[in-house]
Amino acid sequence: MSRLPAHVHRLEAFAVEAADWIAQRLEHLAESRGNLVIALAGGSTPEPIYRELAKRPLPWKAMVFTFGDERCVPPTDPSSNYRMAHEAMLAKAAEQGSRVIRIAGELDPEKAATLCEAELRELAEQRNEEILRHDLVLLGLGDDGHTASLFPHTQALTETERWVAANHVLKLNIWRLTFTYPLLNAAKNVAFLVNDVRKERVIQEILAGGSGHPAEGVKPTAGSVTWLLGHKPEASGP
Ligand code: 6PG
Repeated sequence: MSRLPAHVHRLEAFAVEAADWIAQRLEHLAESRGNLVIALAGGSTPEPIYRELAKRPLPWKAMVFTFGDERCVPPTDPSSNYRMAHEAMLAKAAEQGSRVIRIAGELDPEKAATLCEAELRELAEQRNEEILRHDLVLLGLGDDGHTASLFPHTQALTETERWVAANHVLKLNIWRLTFTYPLLNAAKNVAFLVNDVRKERVIQEILAGGSGHPAEGVKPTAGSVTWLLGHKPEASGP
């Protein structure tokens, strides 16, 4: 199947309009199958979107939340993507019957990646999928062109078999846990959430093609890519 062109939406009220877009996409997807598997983006950009989504009548009971990446910290750590999402939305989602597949950042990175992948493979089997096809993957973008924790010049960029990898990021001297291209590119829908005008150049380089930025490697073989872009002038957070 040919790859679909990327769709770019420039949003005025970023959090509300991005939440609207996600909610509409989920309602549409909910009509077609039992459960809905959504990968959450980390970082600071998505938090207000998740707070908005928590106010909506989503098909919570049908939803399975995963994480496109995680820091190697406990779930209570201020830098944990799980903690951010839990406080903004997942506490409510879990009350409403959603399932959450967390990446255990508190464990040894290799072990955490293996455990998460095992859970995802079990879910794929339940969905009769060779490789888990997320209904929607939400991703952020770093100003160096990284997405999830697929940073430039890191090992995980070359992973072709595993779905979740422990990835050493030399420039930050840290370990991260990340979905790999095989898993990301099996998605039915991918949405990049970017709300920082300083990332415009990187976005344009990616959309033009041939940039070499890791985010450009997210090209679902049978899925859509959408860019939901805000125009926040100041930094998008830590
Ligand atoms: C993370 C992310 C990462 C993030 C970008 C953008 O764990 O940090 O998954 O890919 O989405 O770095 O981060 P901001 O939204 O904070 O700009």
